[in-house]
This record gives sequence, C-alpha cells and structure tokens, in this order.
Amino acid sequence: MARMIFVERDGTRREVDAKIGLSVLEIAHEHDIDLEGACEGSLACATCHVVVDPAWADRLKEATEDEEDMLDLAFGLEQTSRLGCQIVMTEELDGLVVYLPKGN
Ligand code: FES
Repeated sequence: MARMIFVERDGTRREVDAKIGLSVLEIAHEHDIDLEGACEGSLACATCHVVVDPAWADRLKEATEDEEDMLDLAFGLEQTSRLGCQIVMTEELDGLVVYLPKGN
C-alpha cells in the first residue's frame, strides 16, 4: 500500500491510501475525492484531469499520444497536467502529489 496526496481546489491536502495497481482516478473515487472521470478510464473524456506536482512529473511514465490529444480538451491545462485514469500507482510513486485543476 502506498500513500498519495490530493490537493483540493480550496487548497485542502488529503493524504489517502493508494493501492498499487489502481489508477489515480480509481484512488480518488475510493476516497470520495471530487474527480469525475466520466468515461471511466477509456480515454474518451478529460474530466479526470489532474495537475501533477512538478516534483513528481518526471517520475511518471510519459503520456501517450491519445492521452495528450484528450488533455488538449481539458480546462486549466498546465505544464504537468495528466489524465488521472492513465497514472497507475506503483511503489515508486509512494507519496505522489496531484492537484485538482481549478475551474472544472
Ligand atoms: S476518465 Fe475519461 S479520460 Fe480519464
């Protein structure tokens, strides 16, 4: 079991248990974090958009072209924006910090 931290839109930090092998979207849903994920991880929406803490961004697997294309549709896009359903929790990501984007 790893931990990860969601920073909510009002700045509240929520540290939660993050099961290895689950996506950031699934982890958010397990803990009632307000991340939508309308297509449930099939890369057909951008409602699972999160902004990864820059300190962590390089440690994630690079986004696929499909993910990049979908991200282009997200509001409040930032340099380290990713789709939460495409980030899969690993031991190495223990302590991962992501921000919920503003204005969603
Ligand atoms: S849940 Fe739709 S792209 Fe991630």
